[in-house]
Order: sequence, then C-alpha cells, then structure tokens
Amino acid sequence: MSESLQHIAIIMDGNGRWAKKQNKERSFGHRIGADSAREIITHCRALNISYLTLYAFSKENWARPKDEISTLFSLLTEFLTKELQTLLKNDICLKLIGTFDNLPITTKTALKYACEKTKNCTGMVLNLALDYSSRNEIFLATQKFALLEKEKQTEENFQNLFFTAHQIDPDLLIRTGGEKRLSNFLLYQLAYTELYFSDTFWPDFTPNELDEIIKKFYQRQRRFGKIPE
Ligand code: IPE
Ligand code: IPE
Ligand code: MG
Repeated sequence: MSESLQHIAIIMDGNGRWAKKQNKERSFGHRIGADSAREIITHCRALNISYLTLYAFSKENWARPKDEISTLFSLLTEFLTKELQTLLKNDICLKLIGTFDNLPITTKTALKYACEKTKNCTGMVLNLALDYSSRNEIFLATQKFALLEKEKQTEENFQNLFFTAHQIDPDLLIRTGGEKRLSNFLLYQLAYTELYFSDTFWPDFTPNELDEIIKKFYQRQRRFGKIPE
C-alpha cells in the first residue's frame, strides 16, 4: 500500500432508476438508498477512514417535483434521528456541507441536534452535503476572502473559507449510478482526487463493492504532477 486513503467522497446516485427498474416509486429507491448509506458509513468507520463525504441533495435538486423533495427530506430527518446512536457509538462527527438556512425546519432541528451531539467525536468526520453547490461554495468563499486584509489573503486562508475548512481533500471519489460527471460536487477539492465510476445503482451498493474499489485505488499511482520514483 503506497498511498494512504483518508478521505472518501461519494455521489450516491441511481435511487430513482433502481426503483423504476422494479416498478416502484422513486421514493422507495431513496428509502433503500438510506440503508446503503448507513452500511457504508459504518464500514468506512471500521476501515479507519478519517473523512467520508456523502452527496445527499444538491442545490439543483430543488428543481425536482415537490413531493419527491418532501419525501427525501422526511427520510433524511428520520435517518438523522434514528442513526444518531449509530454515529455516537462509532465516534463519528457529523458536519453539514451546504446551506443550512434553506433546509426544512424539521431537518434543521434534527441536523443541528445531531451535529451538536457528535461534535466531540474523533473517530471519523461524516460530511453530509445538503443543499450543496460547489460553485456556490466557491462564490461564497470568494466573497468572504475579498473582505480579508491583504496580508491575510493566502491560498490556505481561502481554502479555510470553504465548508470543508481544515479538512484534507478527498483521495477517492466514487459516483454510483453510471453517470460520469461531477454534478457540481467539490469542484475545487477534487483537483487531485482519484475518480471511480460504478454502474451500480446506489441502493445496490455494498461494503463489498467499496472494498473492491479501494483495492483498485491502491493499485493506481498518484503522481501529483511529479515523475514516479
Ligand atoms: C440520487 O438518486 C439521490 C438524489 C439525487 C437525491 P437519484 O434520485 O438522482 O436517482 P436517479 O439518478 O434518478 O436514478
Ligand atoms: C447528483 O445526482 C446529486 C446527488 C447525488 C445528491 P443528480 O441525480 O442530481 O445528478 P444529475 O442531475 O444526474 O447530474
Ligand atoms: Mg440522479
């Protein structure tokens, strides 16, 4: 193992198509997708991953039908409430990346409570991307940066204005569901990340498949612009 794997980011895509394939409502896909998320979270913790970043809802997703949005957020709120014990038991610190203010009130309450309760956990950071847009994140950081005194305008200080402030960049990005695009996710932070695209729809994604992807990650050579030794 030459490379270390500390941060995994996942675009959890394919819930709707998974449901459609079995003549079910899209919301059924989201429900089973939440089970995959729980398994992957505890598996990453068991693997001693330091950061796991999950894309759960993008700013662009607000353009979906109202009933799908409300189902998604009620599942999410249920997840945050039910899984708080799992997070605490596994020493996982929950963080939001995205705009808190725009979330439904019940989600805000559950999220705030879970973040507060887990804030001193040190086993793993779980970044949950909700109402997230990478371009918006970069824009907001730039606005704040412009207000800094000239001598404080360093690249490091710029990065620390992001939702992912003080974290290391993802080593590995996985997108399930077959699409090969980033859909406005972590555009800045993924500069040197290894990308992996899986055709598996998210509800079918398992810890086993993650293990296989991790094996492949370790077979890749990350050069960061250098010439291999
Ligand atoms: C990912 O699954 C979950 C969210 C975007 C919230 P989708 O709902 O995008 O499922 P597909 O891509 O339509 O199959
Ligand atoms: C990306 O999936 C967002 C999440 C997984 C939360 P989308 O389904 O929204 O992406 P596009 O629309 O196919 O690019
Ligand atoms: Mg999708």
